[in-house]
Amino acid sequence: MSVSARVFGAFQEHYQAVSYPAIIALLSNYGREQDVGVKQSYREAAQKRSDFDMSDDKGKSKLWGGRFTEATDAFVERFTASVAFDRRLYHHDIEGSIAHASMLNKVGILSSEELEQIIQGLKEIKSEIENDKFQWSISLEDVHMNIEAALTSRIGDVGKKLHTGRSRNDQVATDIRLYVRDEIDQIAKLIIQLQTALLNLAEAEAETIMPGFTHLQTAQPISFGHHMMAWFEMLSRDYARLLDCRKRVNLSPLGAAALAGTTYPIDREYTAELLGFEKPTSNSLDSVSDRDFAIEIASFASILMTHLSRFSEELVLWTSAQFNFIDLPDRFCTGSSIMPQKKNPDVPELIRGKTGRVNGHLVSLLTLMKSQPLAYNKDNQEDKEPLFDLLDTVKDCVFAYSEMMPAVSCKKEVMYDAAKRGYATATDLADYLVNKGLAFRDAHEVVGKSVAFAIEKEKDLSELSLQDLQSFSELIEEDVFSVLTLEGSVNARDHLGGTAPNQVRSAVKAARTELGNR
Ligand code: ARG
Repeated sequence: MSVSARVFGAFQEHYQAVSYPAIIALLSNYGREQDVGVKQSYREAAQKRSDFDMSDDKGKSKLWGGRFTEATDAFVERFTASVAFDRRLYHHDIEGSIAHASMLNKVGILSSEELEQIIQGLKEIKSEIENDKFQWSISLEDVHMNIEAALTSRIGDVGKKLHTGRSRNDQVATDIRLYVRDEIDQIAKLIIQLQTALLNLAEAEAETIMPGFTHLQTAQPISFGHHMMAWFEMLSRDYARLLDCRKRVNLSPLGAAALAGTTYPIDREYTAELLGFEKPTSNSLDSVSDRDFAIEIASFASILMTHLSRFSEELVLWTSAQFNFIDLPDRFCTGSSIMPQKKNPDVPELIRGKTGRVNGHLVSLLTLMKSQPLAYNKDNQEDKEPLFDLLDTVKDCVFAYSEMMPAVSCKKEVMYDAAKRGYATATDLADYLVNKGLAFRDAHEVVGKSVAFAIEKEKDLSELSLQDLQSFSELIEEDVFSVLTLEGSVNARDHLGGTAPNQVRSAVKAARTELGNR
């Protein structure tokens, strides 16, 4: 019996056993049960999806629970909570709270004993968190309320006074600014390390000749050191952008409260000073809603990553068998599980790839802020994951580069030969003819014909005989050969910003002074 006959037989049997209306009922119920089942299993899966362990979460009561008559839906609780990712702000949250409490004491809202207790409690909480003993709770939503609730359960009613004259809106804005400022300072140091590595390489390889490219076609010979200094310049602009962004990060929104300020006699200058901010922000509405600084650091990061992706692309090309210009030590590479001969430049490749994710975060942040009405909106909670991830990524990538660059070794002969093979001195021949009185356009034409001839003879320009060269222009004399060498070509570009090893060395010197002044 065929399969279809068997299935048909079974169906017939079943059909006879069950009445027609019963089948209809079964089918329609089946749909509905299915629906409820899907929803239920989605809920369960969604609850488990959090990378945050909630197994011990006792469902702490809400700090804002006063006006509510039913408990938050369990799904909504997880969906709206940020503690799984914003708890990394704990250090800055506590720092901000200590400054706020100190200010409340200064203006007479908290007694000195109360301040003592609050500071002591917060310090204990900090060490609990750092020793992995702190019980985070999803039902307490975010890092701010987790810490505040823990403070109150630790020191009692005094803990409830901490939030006087403050809102989570100015609190979170303060925390992120403090966090980003610390990250900026770390990134600045990493950039300096990488730039120092590039300077060392540029100095060591100032005389090393490689082909310079335009359109990825051999153009003119350049110094490898000069190429490294081009990378250095890109990073100097990144550094300047980073520090410029820091100026706008380093302002204190604390005191803006929910959106309109507060009725207490707060001292915003004092908290700003305690937290090392340059000064308080000016407008309370803007203070709680502004995330320009996050977008700015993201654009800094995107441009920096774009630079690293360009370096990476070149390293990947240069380590390929076809270029073979440099060697990257094994510790920065990995092998293939199938092809035993492979040594892949994974680190530069991955950095090139991570550029995409950082660019994505920039777009996320821009889109997050687009069309947001004043003042704070819950949308802003979405700033953290892209922000944290892009800062982590930038630090990792700059660090990787600062480790990798000192380990790069140049295959000088290969680079030299490659420069020689590409008629890289053709422009030098044209310039030679101009010096002998020919107009540049005519010289261009003469050299073009000489190159075509050399290609046909499978020779470099420097390998043609004087007679052959003279057949293209009578102006060519014996001294032409010094111009046609790669060294002659490179040394001749001896002006500010040129590729002559001389210039590379003085660029390195100037850069060292600049780094020393940072
Ligand atoms: N978790 C919130 C955030 O990251 C803190 C501020 C919440 N403010 C509020 N009004 N719900 O933005």
